[in-house]
Amino acid sequence: MMTKVTRILMRAVVQAVLFSIAGCERFSPQVPADHASTSPGAEPKKGYKDLIVGYAQLGAESEWRSANTASVKEAAEVLGVELKFSDAQQKQENQIKAIRSLIAQRVDVIGVAPLTETGWDHVFKEAREAGIPIILVDRRAAVPPDLYVTLMGSDFLEEGRKAARIVAELTNGQANIVELVGTIDSAPANDRYRGFREILKDYPGMKIIASESGDFTLAQGKEVMEAFLKTHGRDITALYAHNDDMALGAIKAIEEYGLRPGVDIKIVSVDAARGAFEAMIAGKLNATVECNPLLGPKFLQLALQVANGETVPKWVPSEEGVFFPGNAKEILPTRKY
Ligand code: AHR
Repeated sequence: MMTKVTRILMRAVVQAVLFSIAGCERFSPQVPADHASTSPGAEPKKGYKDLIVGYAQLGAESEWRSANTASVKEAAEVLGVELKFSDAQQKQENQIKAIRSLIAQRVDVIGVAPLTETGWDHVFKEAREAGIPIILVDRRAAVPPDLYVTLMGSDFLEEGRKAARIVAELTNGQANIVELVGTIDSAPANDRYRGFREILKDYPGMKIIASESGDFTLAQGKEVMEAFLKTHGRDITALYAHNDDMALGAIKAIEEYGLRPGVDIKIVSVDAARGAFEAMIAGKLNATVECNPLLGPKFLQLALQVANGETVPKWVPSEEGVFFPGNAKEILPTRKY
């Protein structure tokens, strides 16, 4: 349990995050954290403490995912929201079961971080029929727009473009690139794949010589990189990893092969998690493109607005940067994940 001081500190952090995410002007809390409003003549509005929210998390595959889970749980505790959390352990059928259970429990709003882009129409329709709004957190689902109220999270396509521009700069536009793709059919894997290739069209000297999924995990990142090295060896001059965990696994594989990660093979990944900063400080990673997992406070703010019948934008994008080894040491202590 949190002490009173921790709770006060956490509330300050949550408020700071609410105001640091894009679109916060339109979403500044309308209702005080712990009181429902009862203006005369109007329907009484819910406050955070009246809210029951479900969160169907997809799993715990990465440092990013653990930070996302912690952000949602902490925000709920600080704001006094009743949270029903489930972890699907990287299985879509588990996530669908979890959503059905949340529908049966009659929660006010369901947040879903969809494992894959496809396969959600049916269960989202069930939620709509039950009158329970769906908020997509982090990842897009390929469903008609009337099946969810809003999507909050990153521009994965732009992340892929940013990564490609950095690889081009690091290699002067001449590279044999291997790519570690994220979970097959997931929105970030699809968009980071496409965004990267969009930019590569302008660089005839940059070639993708191998591309395979490492499922966003460190273990599979290592395994797939070992296979790439076995086939292409010293021909590989650059690695693009769809997340930091896979890059960290690949770094181990490169070292075991006898090459210098970050020097013999330039490496760019996505997320900007602490592990990536440590690798940059050690000179083993050349850049990381930020993807912000700290979505909990904003998610609950949107859930409250939706539960109170307010209109919210269809997409609430995160604001994100890019980080390089040059100042990684100074920045690392400020990182929250
Ligand atoms: O959907 C966000 C992605 O999912 C993160 O980049 C990755 O680390 C995670 O598994």
